[in-house]
Amino acid sequence: MNKNYYVKVENLAKRFPGESKGKDLTVFENCNFGIEKGEFVCIIGHSGCGKSTILNILAGLDQATDGYIFMNDKEVSGPSLERGVVFQNYSLLPWLTTLKNVTFGVRARFPQWSKERVIEHSMKFLELVGLKDSAHRKPSELSGGMRQRVSIARAFATQPNLLLLDEPFGALDALTRGMIQEELIKIWEETKQTVFMITHDVDEAILLADRVLLMTNGPYARVAESVTVSIPRPRERSSVIHHPGFYQIRNHLVDFLVSRSKELSGAIQSDSNIQSFTPSIAPKEVDPIAEGMDVQSQEVGTQEQVISA
Ligand SMILES: Nc1ncnc2c1ncn2[C@@H]1O[C@H](COP(=O)(O)OP(=O)(O)O)[C@@H](O)[C@H]1O
Ligand SMILES: [Mg+2]
Repeated sequence: MNKNYYVKVENLAKRFPGESKGKDLTVFENCNFGIEKGEFVCIIGHSGCGKSTILNILAGLDQATDGYIFMNDKEVSGPSLERGVVFQNYSLLPWLTTLKNVTFGVRARFPQWSKERVIEHSMKFLELVGLKDSAHRKPSELSGGMRQRVSIARAFATQPNLLLLDEPFGALDALTRGMIQEELIKIWEETKQTVFMITHDVDEAILLADRVLLMTNGPYARVAESVTVSIPRPRERSSVIHHPGFYQIRNHLVDFLVSRSKELSGAIQSDSNIQSFTPSIAPKEVDPIAEGMDVQSQEVGTQEQVISA
């Protein structure tokens, strides 16, 4: 990898031992990609290709079978407050108030700060997600959307060098999801954190990301493409769809999910055994807007058809 990335993932692989005398299961291998400092990167791929496993390895919560991850030129091993995670299921502490759920993380990250500074800092982030007035309520008194806002505020407030989001809006209804996406943009524009986010929502990725990584289907999945989203910021949900390049990017991503994710898959299945033929390569870099990709081919299916394919 010639670029001097802030986070570097090199030849990452995850294998699970096969049952009895069966062969090992290689979920993914030869995964190579980088993330620049301050960049917002989304990753998309069909269910089971290994996205959460990659995110957990980045978080230091799981171990790769092969390959390396470097952050700021240091190898990642084990969890650290430098890397913050937001899971789909909120993971708040139910016995603490909203505010204390945030200050808890902030205090751990900045133990030298005074109590007042910790509270002031935490309140600022609760305000950014519109929860200032709910600071003293417990998670059980909040809706699902509000709880997810708290976990986002907490993650950003602890100011990790790398923020990892695993389908953070997956459990929310479309309306709430839209609102929180806009808050996430606001908070990210303010903090310029480096973000790695898993999503299954193509439109969400275009709205949020600087770059979208595309994973082929497993087994032997890999990151096949790195797609630049060259739609200028600030972006808003209502206007991004009117950008002339929106459908060029959208078609490219949907087309990947419908056909290329399978065609480029590293697995060839012959009778009873599956084997890999993927060489170790960096993802192909694509900029659909710059390349003026075909906008006519809009019949690649709806999002729902793609994801359930
Ligand atoms: N302990 C395990 N033993 C065997 N296979 C596993 C184990 N944990 C996860 N897997 C497999 O790893 C694959 C990737 O899982 P995951 O990272 O959750 O995928 P994604 O997030 O892309 O949906 C899945 O196919 C899953 O069945
Ligand atoms: Mg997952």
